[in-house]
Amino acid sequence: MSVWAILVAAGRGERLGSDQPKAFVKLGELPLLAEPLRRLDDSEWVDAIVVVAPPGWEEPAILLAEELGCAKVRACVAGGETRADSVRAGLAEVPDDAAAVLVHDAARPLLTDEVIGRVLAPLADGWEGVVPGLPVSDTVKRVGSDGGVEETVARDGLWTVQTPQAFPVDALRRAVSGGADATDCAGLVEAAGGRVKVVPGDPLLLKVTTAEDLARVASLL
Ligand code: CTP
Ligand code: MG
Repeated sequence: MSVWAILVAAGRGERLGSDQPKAFVKLGELPLLAEPLRRLDDSEWVDAIVVVAPPGWEEPAILLAEELGCAKVRACVAGGETRADSVRAGLAEVPDDAAAVLVHDAARPLLTDEVIGRVLAPLADGWEGVVPGLPVSDTVKRVGSDGGVEETVARDGLWTVQTPQAFPVDALRRAVSGGADATDCAGLVEAAGGRVKVVPGDPLLLKVTTAEDLARVASLL
């Protein structure tokens, strides 16, 4: 029984504002995609990887995987317009007999084996999704477009969630089959009625959204 990882890297990176897709912007010496790809390939938990590349960037993604010596990459496919479309494209390459599927954002390069182990473990208890999260520590306010505070939101029970997110393959297939979009896969599973568990994430598993994030992650490599 094998664990498949889908590495979604097909976003345009509009908020980063580079002329290349975010996955191919340099993080240190190599394209950003290299770091999460290498870490998934090195993981003792992961048996096979599907890379979802920006349309037209499949070839450079394959060459990068070869250059890094990544032996677990089974497919590289073009992503879609939304993140959910990209997950659908990747999931089409995952066989039905996979024990579990992990979906990870290439935009979170600092992936560790510990967090992968934490999201996979509860699947044995029947959860239909497991996500790494961090409890919100700041006070949270809802703010209107004029900067005026509309509400202070009670912080208890609020978590921000990260990737990698783990699912039984059939639960994720059901969740993405509807054509809906969400900013994470667990949102799709929840919308389909699935029970999703949060486990401790990793404060270093930052998402590269802006140029400042890129510099911060580069300093942590
Ligand atoms: N993603 C994807 N396909 C899409 C949109 C996003 O594979 N159509 C991936 C991104 O490559 C990224 C992850 O989903 O690894 C999280 O998305 P985000 O951080 O929003 O990246 P971008 O969509 O590229 O950035 P932006 O929203 O600033 O354009
Ligand atoms: Mg986006």
